[in-house]
Amino acid sequence: MLQGCDASILLSHKGSERRAKVSKTLRGFRIIDEIKAEVEKKCPKTVSCADILTAAARDATVVAGGPFWEVPFGRKDGKISSAREANRLVPQGHENVTTLIQIFRDHGLNILDLVVLSGAHTIGRSSCDAINHRLHNFNGTRKADPSLDTKYLNSLKKKCAASSHVYVDLDATTPRIFDTAYYTNLGRNMGLLSTDQLLNSDARTGPFVSVLASQPLVFSSQFAASMVKLGNIGVLARPNEGEIRFKCSSVNRAY
Ligand code: HEM
Repeated sequence: MLQGCDASILLSHKGSERRAKVSKTLRGFRIIDEIKAEVEKKCPKTVSCADILTAAARDATVVAGGPFWEVPFGRKDGKISSAREANRLVPQGHENVTTLIQIFRDHGLNILDLVVLSGAHTIGRSSCDAINHRLHNFNGTRKADPSLDTKYLNSLKKKCAASSHVYVDLDATTPRIFDTAYYTNLGRNMGLLSTDQLLNSDARTGPFVSVLASQPLVFSSQFAASMVKLGNIGVLARPNEGEIRFKCSSVNRAY
């Protein structure tokens, strides 16, 4: 994804994005391989892994109760995937809002896209690794991050005390439902990642958080629109660009 929407994250050779430290908690690779195998049986050499991944993200959203959107197809799969680039460029949850805005802008996404797409954290989980710095000695203060609700902080401390390999829900109230609880939680100082919580307090992003918290239909329709934008970044579609992989985890061999 670093180069664009080209399924480079699925490649699993030594030194690929998927092997990067920042990718270690990614999951779902096997289901993508299974979908690809079924599609190849019915319609060989036609559907790219990038298209499968984009459709799967849409379908998973729908299953969780989120909106449907038409996915434009025709992406090719990339041949380049770098762990070093992933470690350098993937945001990890401790950035400031200026950096987040910059990262999104570099990919043609605006501040509304940033706030709306962060709403994907209505689903899923994070390792304690990504939040431990908020729980103890935040910025060298020897105290926890003051923007964390006290009860929530205590529950996180308890869960993460066991091991840093424990996972916690990104949406503390409805982690399996695609809804606006992610945004209402931010209003109650219950954002899990510091990047989530900062979206609420920053003057550039806070007004969007308030609107999205109270208007589920605005969130659904804008999430769909921003996901289409995300899925169109850096698409390889011209005849001499990329390839349609036979197997999503490796580039095609030259014969
Ligand atoms: C704004 C910048 C973003 C930051 C800083 C960020 C950060 C993170 C972090 C730290 C995790 C936990 C992963 C771990 O512990 O290894 C996570 C999980 C997740 N993120 Fe983001 N993310 C961002 C944007 C997005 C976007 C744009 C989407 C999708 C549209 C997204 C969807 C998810 C999902 C679904 C999970 C849960 C994964 C799972 O349960 O396995 N994130 N994110």
